[in-house]
Amino acid sequence: RMEVGKLRTGCEEFDELMGGGIETQSITEMYGEFGSGKTQIAHQLAVNTQLPKEMGGLDGSVIIIDTENTFRPERIEHMVAGLSHKFEQDFDPAEFLKNIHVARAYNSNHQILLVDAATEMANKLKNTDKPVRLVIVDSLTAHFRAEYVGRGTLADRQQKLNKHLHDLQRFGDLNNASVIVTNQVMSKPDAFFGDPTRPIGGHILGHTATFRLYIRKSKGDKRIVKLVDSPCLPDGEAVACITTDGLCD
Ligand code: GTP
Ligand code: MG
Repeated sequence: RMEVGKLRTGCEEFDELMGGGIETQSITEMYGEFGSGKTQIAHQLAVNTQLPKEMGGLDGSVIIIDTENTFRPERIEHMVAGLSHKFEQDFDPAEFLKNIHVARAYNSNHQILLVDAATEMANKLKNTDKPVRLVIVDSLTAHFRAEYVGRGTLADRQQKLNKHLHDLQRFGDLNNASVIVTNQVMSKPDAFFGDPTRPIGGHILGHTATFRLYIRKSKGDKRIVKLVDSPCLPDGEAVACITTDGLCD
């Protein structure tokens, strides 16, 4: 087993909550309602991964499996400009964009197959100066939810999602990469599932995702990040801000 890497988020409280950063060889699930900031945080991590280790990065490139067509290159450019301010150094946005490989997933089966494509890509980049160190699936669950409707199909959905998550875990292990997945949930208490801080399908993801982060909006730019049920870290919360420059304290 390779030494676990830690990817810093750009927000110190968030890093502390995670025991120093988002771990490699683990799946980190971010769940929260519409607009809570999951995709924004994912963009920031796609940028930070490329930084050298002494700046909190993993010196690697990134694969994004984009299921909702929400990847925005302009947002990456803003965040790279933010890093240039922060580190008082001229980072080239084009260079960062070049190291983010985005694949659109058109349905859940396609999404599952794209992990194989990601593995091929990672093998190609393995011995370069930018091996793949982060894979993002944003959103993990949207296609599955849309396609598997009704009670009779739930077991089937669960089985497919489980396989998908195991493929992703394997990818993370083989490449010493972080795996980030997002999952939209309702904020309102749900008559059936009860607890609003529990994602629908929570029991599906619960066993596989090593770190589970509940993201919610607070005042202005602020977001509350809550670590839930971690096997190795204390539960807790961090406040992070999403600004034009990206994620910050
Ligand atoms: P769903 O995918 O719909 O579940 O939402 P999400 O959790 O992915 O939300 P997302 O990350 O897309 O967050 C959108 C929010 O981020 C917006 O409502 C803004 O508050 C904030 N945001 C997005 N872009 C910018 C930006 O350029 N500057 C600033 N300051 N905030 C931004
Ligand atoms: Mg999103």
